[in-house]
Amino acid sequence: MMSMNIGFIGLGNMGGAVAKAVSQVDDTNLLLSNYNPTKAHALQQQIGGQLLSNKEIMTQAQVVFLGVKPHQLSSLLADLKGQATPADQTIISMAAGVNLADLTEMLPNKPIIRMMPNTPVEIGQGMTTYTTLDGQASPLFEDLMVYAGQVTFTPENLMDAATAIAGCGPAFVYQFIEALADAGVQNGLSRQVALDLAAQTVAGSAQMVSQTKKHPAQLRDEVTSPGGSTIAGVVALEKHGFRYAIISAINKALKKTKKLGKN
Ligand SMILES: NC(=O)c1ccc[n+]([C@@H]2O[C@H](COP(=O)([O-])OP(=O)(O)OC[C@H]3O[C@@H](n4cnc5c(N)ncnc54)[C@H](OP(=O)(O)O)[C@@H]3O)[C@@H](O)[C@H]2O)c1
Repeated sequence: MMSMNIGFIGLGNMGGAVAKAVSQVDDTNLLLSNYNPTKAHALQQQIGGQLLSNKEIMTQAQVVFLGVKPHQLSSLLADLKGQATPADQTIISMAAGVNLADLTEMLPNKPIIRMMPNTPVEIGQGMTTYTTLDGQASPLFEDLMVYAGQVTFTPENLMDAATAIAGCGPAFVYQFIEALADAGVQNGLSRQVALDLAAQTVAGSAQMVSQTKKHPAQLRDEVTSPGGSTIAGVVALEKHGFRYAIISAINKALKKTKKLGKN
């Protein structure tokens, strides 16, 4: 890849995580901006790059990642309206629920990518979906996200569903890990040991699903001996509506995501 100026406007949890992944790509100059400059400065200490204003980033960057909250997007872009920009500039929005049609209205005549990352991007273990105006995969985007984890092109009508699972999902998984660890502590394990056991159990089980391609129900059967302790736990989860609780959480998150885009 030729040396490129890559701008980031909005360096909170998600914008910062994506910037950390992109900073590892060769031949990229990072241009960083955040409303509160202390945050941008702290990130610059870790990953390098230049601190600039939003307007300077729009003028100088070939690619601009927008990491502000969905409801902050329209006022940010209104402020930047009329700004001279490089002819080939690509804008990448990570705002949940904001669709390409709305982005195009705010940013006419520009190649736009809508992405949905998740916070494990920060450690190269993210799950990112993205979609584009021309409906084609973007080699440029995939090159920039090569250190971010898995990246999958997704039709736009499925982006909100992907957001509810992969964007919001880490929070639900952390709740599950915390609950596993609480049970461990209740039964005498130290907090640290209980967290280590819980996190590695979730990580290993997730890898079994990805690598073996077996249906999770089959993998569960393989752990569940007749009359044993695991089936006792499985039945208790069923009694408390475990799977229904998860499906409901995703559907609530999906409904809220669709609302975010309408602000
Ligand atoms: N968090 C996630 O897991 C996740 C997952 C997928 C997608 N997203 C999307 O990522 C975006 C950011 O979410 P977040 O959780 O990272 O929120 P966040 O931590 O609040 O980050 C937003 C950042 O944008 C900055 N900002 C706001 N207005 C600005 C402006 N006009 N110019 C420059 N910087 C500005 C804020 O600065 P100050 O702090 O100084 O106000 C803040 O650092 C959202 O659109 C969200 O939908 C988040």
